[in-house]
Amino acid sequence: MGRASRPEDPGGKSVKDGFDEGLARRTDAYVEGLFVPPDDALSRGLEDAQAAGLPPINVSPNEGKLLHLIARIARASRVLEIGTLGGYSTTWLARALPPEGHLVTLELEARHAEVARANLARAGVAGRVEILVGPASASLRALAARHEPPFDLVFIDADKEGYVEYLDLSLRLVRRGGLILADNTLRHGRVLDEGPLDPSARGIKAFNERIATDPRLDSLILPIIRKDLDGLSISIVR
Ligand code: SAH
Ligand code: DHB
Ligand code: MG
Repeated sequence: MGRASRPEDPGGKSVKDGFDEGLARRTDAYVEGLFVPPDDALSRGLEDAQAAGLPPINVSPNEGKLLHLIARIARASRVLEIGTLGGYSTTWLARALPPEGHLVTLELEARHAEVARANLARAGVAGRVEILVGPASASLRALAARHEPPFDLVFIDADKEGYVEYLDLSLRLVRRGGLILADNTLRHGRVLDEGPLDPSARGIKAFNERIATDPRLDSLILPIIRKDLDGLSISIVR
């Protein structure tokens, strides 16, 4: 996607200029070919999401595999996801859970949740997944009021303007030693751009500064190749 095609793009030279997208994509495809075998439930889920008109902004196959591996490394049995879309990342995370595990995923749009519900059922993980429909900030407050055991892992991937608030609310819901992950934390490299940033890049930048400086967290952003450069942040709650 060229920068000029982005309506909210303030324009100007980007630090990403000169980034070899061809090499990056071939490398991503090479890794995917080795480590992410074709999967009927996942690919049919993406097809149905597209047919239903959902935006194609799910994590990539490699990033899905990474989320899955991190959840298993952490031995997570309670996972919270913020931003369900059609349930693609949800499926990767739900498949990492032990049989008695539970995943709660938050989605604003009832239409997205409906597509996700069907996709999660086809993937055989619907019994482990609860979808809460509505604004994530309200659902996070409702979750805190349920007084359930804390979550082992939180994955933030909804509206970028909300990331800092979702971090604050998640910190009340995740156990000590748990993980908070967030998608899109490099925003195609736009967080490096000088000059005015669009609201979503501003939201991400504020989030990144918080996870870098909050004494309760120890964090890093892992660069991720998707359509172009993006990042996954990883924070451990001390
Ligand atoms: N995690 C998904 C992609 C999520 S896309 C995957 O990788 O497969 C972001 C989702 O967040 C969209 O479905 C959008 O409707 C939802 N969203 C946007 N604003 C929200 C809000 N305020 N509360 C909850 N969900 C929101
Ligand atoms: C986009 C990608 C995402 O992963 C997301 O959560 C939101 C938007 C995008 O490419 O526009
Ligand atoms: Mg995302």
